[in-house]
Amino acid sequence: MVTAVAQRLAAQRREINDTLARLSLSSENLQQVKDKMRVELERGLRKDSHSTASVKMLPSFVYRTPNGTERGKYLALDLGGTNFRVLVVKIRSGIRKSVRMYNKIYAIPLEIMQGTGEELFDHIVQCISDFLDYMGMKNTRLPLGFTFSFPCRQTGIDKGSLVSWTKGFKATDCEGNDVVEMLREAIKRRNEFDLDIVAVVNDTVGTMMTCAYEDPKCEIGLIAGTGSNVCYMEEMRNIEMVEGDEGQMCVNTEWGGFGENDCIEDIRTRFDREVDEGSLNNGKQRFEKMTSGMYLGEIVRQILIDLTRRGLLFRVNTPQVYKNIKCVTPLSPPSDRLALLQVRAILQQLGLDSTCDDSIIVKEVCGTVSRRAAQLCGAGMAAIVDKIRENRGRNQMNITVGVDGTLYKLHPHFSRILKDTVKALAPQCDVEFVLSEDGSGKGAALITAVIDKYLYAMRLSDETLMDIMKRFRRELGNGLCSDTNPTATVKMLPTFVRSIPDGSEKGDFIALDLGGSAFRILRVKVSHEKKQTVQMESQIYDTPEDIIHGSGTRLFDHVAECLGDFMEKQNIKDKKLSVGFTFSFPCAQTKLNESYLLTWTKRFKASGVEGMDIVTLLNKAIKKRGVDIMAVVNDTVGTMMTCGFDDQRCEVGIIIGTGTNACYMEELRHIDLVEGDEGRMCINTEWGAFGDDGMLEDIRTEFDREIDRGSLNPGKQLFEKMVSGMYIGELVRLILVKMAKEGFLFEGRITPELLTKGKFETKHVSSIEKSKEGLTKAKDILGRLGMEPSADDCIAVQHICTIVSHRSANLIAATLGGILSRLKDNKGNPRLRTTVGIDGSLYKMHPYARRLHKTVRRLVPESDVRFLLSESGSSKGAAMVTAVAYRLLTRVV
Ligand code: G6P
Ligand code: G6P
Ligand code: BGC
Ligand code: BGC
Repeated sequence: MVTAVAQRLAAQRREINDTLARLSLSSENLQQVKDKMRVELERGLRKDSHSTASVKMLPSFVYRTPNGTERGKYLALDLGGTNFRVLVVKIRSGIRKSVRMYNKIYAIPLEIMQGTGEELFDHIVQCISDFLDYMGMKNTRLPLGFTFSFPCRQTGIDKGSLVSWTKGFKATDCEGNDVVEMLREAIKRRNEFDLDIVAVVNDTVGTMMTCAYEDPKCEIGLIAGTGSNVCYMEEMRNIEMVEGDEGQMCVNTEWGGFGENDCIEDIRTRFDREVDEGSLNNGKQRFEKMTSGMYLGEIVRQILIDLTRRGLLFRVNTPQVYKNIKCVTPLSPPSDRLALLQVRAILQQLGLDSTCDDSIIVKEVCGTVSRRAAQLCGAGMAAIVDKIRENRGRNQMNITVGVDGTLYKLHPHFSRILKDTVKALAPQCDVEFVLSEDGSGKGAALITAVIDKYLYAMRLSDETLMDIMKRFRRELGNGLCSDTNPTATVKMLPTFVRSIPDGSEKGDFIALDLGGSAFRILRVKVSHEKKQTVQMESQIYDTPEDIIHGSGTRLFDHVAECLGDFMEKQNIKDKKLSVGFTFSFPCAQTKLNESYLLTWTKRFKASGVEGMDIVTLLNKAIKKRGVDIMAVVNDTVGTMMTCGFDDQRCEVGIIIGTGTNACYMEELRHIDLVEGDEGRMCINTEWGAFGDDGMLEDIRTEFDREIDRGSLNPGKQLFEKMVSGMYIGELVRLILVKMAKEGFLFEGRITPELLTKGKFETKHVSSIEKSKEGLTKAKDILGRLGMEPSADDCIAVQHICTIVSHRSANLIAATLGGILSRLKDNKGNPRLRTTVGIDGSLYKMHPYARRLHKTVRRLVPESDVRFLLSESGSSKGAAMVTAVAYRLLTRVV
């Protein structure tokens, strides 16, 4: 009797052992898995076999791991693991190198995971909206990195079409579509905030980047979680699906698909097939279904059902209860009594009464299934590290794997078995596994930062702008005060213009207008019949490069010649007319018609003029043609006067054109350099030189420095070079070249035209910025430079244009804010009501003005500012000044 029972038990035990033996892999089995994985890796990389390979080897367009110079504030989304997270990640570089993160986890209900794509993305955007509210960041347009833990076919860092859903997701109308586009559309649908989606990354890539931030040897990312996958840094020359042979790119292997071509059928069991058949994606992700957290419990359940059916387990339970078994719990070695009690408790929770034997068997099943999973991952990993080692032609190699995922983190033995297997199968590699502490969202932000590195420094927060505004106000004060003026960068030049037009001006004048993009001569007639009216006729003359870069004598001779021509055409050769001269360069004036050029700026560089009185030079050239130069005015002053003619409140004039500058009405008592304390005088700030003493170094970028080095006046006009029309196009060009060189744009191709200075113009920037036709424009403009930009490239170029011109508008808003706040203090009113006269080709371009106005209102909230575009240039204003000068002169005479 006893022997019969013992024999039956022994037979049962054998049956159980046989069942589990099919799930136990020998070292030969594992070696074969490694070899087959290697074959599939190679097939995925090669063009001819890629389409049929079960391991897809998807290019990620991540070319490098972070190097610690990344910085900025980013938003990240992390979708596809157990949790959906929205994060804000603040990265600091330098000695204070650090990453700070704030995140919130959101639920994705099953009906949304498996509903329509539109519902899914709307839900995601709603969560972002909640997060931005929660963080109080709705109004800041942040760059976003999107960790999307599903296989995506990427054609750029911010473009990826979903190959197929995996794990628990099955939303309709997504497969084959670009996930970034779907996210953008959902953001548009909500119409509540704006984000720059800079990068879409797989969780393996994000994990690798997270770990690589701490350990530069980290060149592999592994996820052993709900799903299973690996990425690693592959040589470009081996990635046939992407052009180019230089350097490396991270490849998302999508090894979860390994075996879809039946190559591991020998080790798959009927339990694996049952799990597959019951899944959302039958036939797919076969390796994942043997190795990842979402399926291990299901495999265990299938085995337990089988054993129960065969009378080997749970004899006290009814068959219906099998359904309940879902878990694969972390289990400790069989000798551990506590663990057995745990097993019983878990089974109890599932409504299963177990005997002691039952618990032992369940525990063995769990151990076998998870052991196999860890070994399979180890075999796959061995194939990867050996491939990298061979790529590098090395005998021995040290490498780090960044790992994340609930299975790896929570299972008591998974990581150990994984490591042991790698060691056994890839003995020539010394592999270290580092757990990613902060998930792959941090990595996505770092990738965003790597890409945004060039642009990051161009996004200025209101906080920074406020700070710049303060610095500029200090400079204004320094320039006005006689002690500090000699060393002040912002020269605060007195103009001897004491009031804006009062409506009594009249006469017939000539105006010269030199220094902007056009050289103009005008005749301005101001008459008084009931109402003051102004009549103007003008002609534009060329100023060829050899003249503006030649001798001063030649330049002024040219001006005189053009003037002679103009007078002849106007039939005023014999008239004695007063001339107002708009000369758009920094001049130290001692009176209205004595004006010493301090330094050339912009495109001008004629010799022998700096330090000279330009009235004397011009008079010499004209040789008394019967004209009198009554007044020299800066273009800002001319603009303020032109606008003042229409709006008595106008007391500021600014130019945002080829160059940039501002003037405003200052209290005479604050102007040390001019005697007298009563009334006001217009001060030409010459704000273009702001920063020439290093004051703006913290916000200048490598591109600003390059522009400066290549300019006619290195080290000077540093503020002007960050903001004005002469430099904006060139700034964009330099960024494009740099990003192309680093492989982020144009697939790394650059034509000689694009490499040529000046080939990308400021007017191009504004036409590309237009949201509708901008992308086509980008294609045209780059096409003319011999480039063949992809649709993605065009989006990126548009993005760069917007950021560069936005920075310009922001910086000007900060300096203008400085002037406005000073005016307000001068007046001692709690609120400032004033008008700013503006001119210049950049200001007139596409969305520039709107941006400037908006920022000024944010920076100086206690003001009502009217921005008035000068319709007729600064010459009308120059004529007004001339009229006043003439009147004063004739009164004196
Ligand atoms: C990290 C990432 C997730 C990823 C997950 C995998 O935490 O941030 O995006 O999918 O690991 O783990 P899980 O076990 O949650 O699937
Ligand atoms: C006005 C003035 C010019 C000035 C110009 C700036 O039109 O008349 O003297 O220099 O604006 O604009 P620009 O874009 O031509 O440099
Ligand atoms: C996906 C991978 C992902 C992995 C881990 C798999 O199902 O296909 O893209 O990396 O899960 O989350
Ligand atoms: C000059 C200023 C001028 C500005 C706008 C700058 O380069 O120094 O005098 O007002 O350009 O034309």
